[in-house]
Amino acid sequence: MDIDTACVAIAADIATHGHAIRPGFVAREELAPLRDHLMAWWEEGELRRAGIGRGESWQLREDIRGDYVRWIDFSTPGPFSEFLAGYYEPLRLACNRELLLGLYEYEGHVTVYPPGRFYRRHVDQFRGAQHRKLSVILYLNDDWAKDDGGELRMYLPDGEGERVLDVLPEAGTLVAFLSHEIPHEVLPAKRERLSLTGWFRTRDGLLP
Ligand code: OGA
Ligand code: MN
Repeated sequence: MDIDTACVAIAADIATHGHAIRPGFVAREELAPLRDHLMAWWEEGELRRAGIGRGESWQLREDIRGDYVRWIDFSTPGPFSEFLAGYYEPLRLACNRELLLGLYEYEGHVTVYPPGRFYRRHVDQFRGAQHRKLSVILYLNDDWAKDDGGELRMYLPDGEGERVLDVLPEAGTLVAFLSHEIPHEVLPAKRERLSLTGWFRTRDGLLP
C-alpha cells in the first residue's frame, strides 16, 4: 500500500473510532536510522526530563511522568525531518481532506522512558489551549515482548462508560487519536522504551 492510501485509511479509522492503530506503519529499515539517532542523543545527554503543564505552570512531577524528551521539527538535522516530510506530511494532508481538521503544523519530541517510568492518565490538550488536535505516536522498540510491559493504555468511550485498549510499543507501530477525546497513560516497562510522540496542531486554539 502506498503512503497516501495508508494515510487515507488511517483518517477513515479516526473518523469512525476517534483513533487508529497501525502495526508496521514504518518498515524496520526506515526505523533504524531514527532509533540510532535517538540513542546517540540519549547517550550524549541531549534529552531532558519532561514535565507537565506549559509556561509558568510547568512542573517536574516524577510521580506523574518520568520520561526524557528532545523536541524535533521539520528543520531538525538528521533523519527525523526526512521522516516527517515522507510520512507525517501525507498524514496531515489526508486528515485535513477526510476529517476537515484544519491541521496546520506539527510539534513533537523523541522520548525515552527508562525502565519503571510511566506517564499517568492524562489528555494531550493543555488547559485553556486547544491547538493540539491529533496525537500521533510512533514506536521505535525492536522485538518488544508482551512481558516487557510499557503499553499505551487508551480509555475509549463505550456507551455510558469507557473501555481500555492496550497497545504494545513495538517498532513501526503508529497510533493516532483525537487529542481532546481519548485519555491515555503509559504503563511502566522492564526495558528502555523509545518513541516519537507529537501533535498536529491548528493555528488557532487559544481559549479566552
Ligand atoms: C505523551 C504520551 C504516549 C506514549 O507523551 O503525551 O501520552 O505511548 N505518550 O509514549
Ligand atoms: Mn499523551
